[in-house]
Amino acid sequence: MNGNCEYQGVGEAPKKDGFAHFMLKEIYEQPQAFQKALQGRIQQGQVKFAELNLTREQVKRWDKIYIIACGTAYHSGLFGKLLLEEFLGVAVEVEIASEFRYRHPLLNENTLAIFVSQSGETADTLGALRKAKNSGATTLAITNVVGSTIAQEADYNLYLGAGPEIAVASTKAYTSMLIMQYLLSIYLAQVKGTMPEQKKAKILTALQELPEKAQQILTQREFYPEVIQKIKNVQSLFFIGRVFDYYIALEGALKLKETSYIHAEAYGAGEIKHGTMAIVTEETPVVAVAVQKSVYEKTVHIVKEVVAKGAFVSAVVEEGDTEMQKWAHHVIYIPQIENIVSPILAVIPLQLLAYYTAVARGCNVDQPRNLTKAVTME
Ligand code: G6P
Repeated sequence: MNGNCEYQGVGEAPKKDGFAHFMLKEIYEQPQAFQKALQGRIQQGQVKFAELNLTREQVKRWDKIYIIACGTAYHSGLFGKLLLEEFLGVAVEVEIASEFRYRHPLLNENTLAIFVSQSGETADTLGALRKAKNSGATTLAITNVVGSTIAQEADYNLYLGAGPEIAVASTKAYTSMLIMQYLLSIYLAQVKGTMPEQKKAKILTALQELPEKAQQILTQREFYPEVIQKIKNVQSLFFIGRVFDYYIALEGALKLKETSYIHAEAYGAGEIKHGTMAIVTEETPVVAVAVQKSVYEKTVHIVKEVVAKGAFVSAVVEEGDTEMQKWAHHVIYIPQIENIVSPILAVIPLQLLAYYTAVARGCNVDQPRNLTKAVTME
């Protein structure tokens, strides 16, 4: 089944609007998608969701939160964990739906289970949702396709509003999911009374700056040709980062695998020393994400180590950074923004890297072999 059918009028073919591929079009649609995700949801310094009418008592009752999803949606859930634990003070587990549904998770009426799905039709995510509902948990979905099964069956549903995503590799839906993870975690903490006002104000201001800053990244095409030349013919490469930067690295590796068929793995930068460093050579380029200030020095340290093993390193850093260029062979700059939201911008260069590499390798960018947009059968 086509996970985007809701958006297409009868007999109306989706259009590339002058872009070579849907994936590129969707990468370039991110500024508008960000606006849609934010629209009406920030009012007088508060997060508002017309779809949610939660009381403080309800939110206080949840002593355990699960975020459950597959693929790219799962990667957005990792952000949710860090944000909810910090803002709400509740332990969060992020689980792959196909695992969650076949084990015995601790679910009861004091559990909130959040399901993230672009299509709203992924079989494993739906199976996990039904399991959580049967156990008495409150279920909340984050979906993109209007009227999907997951959107209908969950107790609450938040629409991304990212518009149709045709390319199999998710881009604008993913970054919209990230925005939703920030909005939802702030909203829940606001209802519970655990979100410091000043911190909230800073993050909400930064989220509203995202469309414009994403647009800036999309106009900077000069970064990519050199790095594409270096990676387009390799067998394998690694992505590294820490904390949020690591989660972006996971998504960067997935994008490259999906579109270019190059073997790519992501590591929390420190973890690469535990085994994988043995296969880091001049044959394995490394893409480092280093936009989180709290862990920046640690990532630079690992960059020095992989460079010493002969690896070509391309790094994504914030504008104004002067340290990374001393060590990495190639640097991609993103605009400065409040640090906690900077990874949302940092993933855009990784999407472009995957796209341009796939094009350079002559791959079927929008319809990669063996993959489908929505896995509706187990
Ligand atoms: C498929 C798609 C991925 C997507 C995953 C989850 O594998 O190819 O791009 O991330 O399903 O899809 P969902 O619609 O549940 O977000």
